[in-house]
Amino acid sequence: MNEIRPILWDDGTLKLLDQTRLPAAEEVVEINDYRGAVAAIRDMQVRGAPAIGVTAAYAVVMAATELWTSDRDSFLSGLREAGTVINAARPTAVNLQWAVRRMLEVAESEPDLAQVNARLLAEARAIQVEDEEINRRMGDNGRELMPDGGAVLTHCNTGALATSAFGTALGVIRAGWESGRRFQVFNTETRPFLQGARLTSWEFQQLGIPATLIVDSAAGIMMQRGQISCVITGADRIAANGDTANKIGTYSLAVLARENGIPFYVAAPTSTVDLSLDSGEEIEIEQRAGSEVTHFQGTPTAPLGVEALNPAFDVTPHRYITAIVTENGVARPPFVESLKLAAGNS
Ligand code: MRU
Repeated sequence: MNEIRPILWDDGTLKLLDQTRLPAAEEVVEINDYRGAVAAIRDMQVRGAPAIGVTAAYAVVMAATELWTSDRDSFLSGLREAGTVINAARPTAVNLQWAVRRMLEVAESEPDLAQVNARLLAEARAIQVEDEEINRRMGDNGRELMPDGGAVLTHCNTGALATSAFGTALGVIRAGWESGRRFQVFNTETRPFLQGARLTSWEFQQLGIPATLIVDSAAGIMMQRGQISCVITGADRIAANGDTANKIGTYSLAVLARENGIPFYVAAPTSTVDLSLDSGEEIEIEQRAGSEVTHFQGTPTAPLGVEALNPAFDVTPHRYITAIVTENGVARPPFVESLKLAAGNS
């Protein structure tokens, strides 16, 4: 099996596997300027917290090429402004801001301006390579949580497509499967953008792991009837106390899991942990266009003119989370202590 790698840097061009077209078509979109990368993130041609972090890093590389001038102050202030534009592409996943900050620190710390662009490219490549390594470590740390027998439920898309390769929650499922554990996999459609139906189902097919697609609202009856052994999702931002922002619908799954006595796991790299926030109440929730709810790929699925609200994420309070799998180990409650340890250890 060829590993899925949705982000490729090819001699100044950023090539992204267009996630708005999957699974109908495997098309690559080519981007040559940083505003193009911002548009690709905003329009979700690339999506998933770690993947938008990697894309943002390459966006900074392109911005540095576009804005280069031998005047250090104007170069750095132009780059900082570009960083603000990149950060604004999507507000909830902290990996984006994390990557932009890491890139700007490299630019600011390089004394020789002639070396800056090469240093930035090396840093973006390092962020991409590290992301795959981190995901594989998360897989190693989390695979023991996967049942042998029984069934795992996952939400949204947290696989290779959402990262540079391997995935977070889907990576843990994959690692469990590859270590010989056998369990059923259920994945939700994930209304309204259908990351689950379109992307996660496609990835499980590529991996040869049997997975059954369910509508989001089927999770309750399945848990109630004993058909789910555990739930595992990714995260877009985790506050210091463990409150976790993730794809809309995650909170409902966590509450249902608690009601039915089922463990609820989160898998995320420590770049998703935002220790500057005490709790999830402070996390900005992205509001996306109502047209994503009233239409599917341009075709109306609701009466024309109807009002629709489209919060893209929700926050699961930490008390519903059994454990958080990171590259530095499995954090358990109290998360205030265990996350600080994991995140300070990266
Ligand atoms: O809106 P999306 O598709 O970018 O949301 C993605 C998710 O919520 C994922 O679960 C999260 O980013 C973790 S991905 C490894």
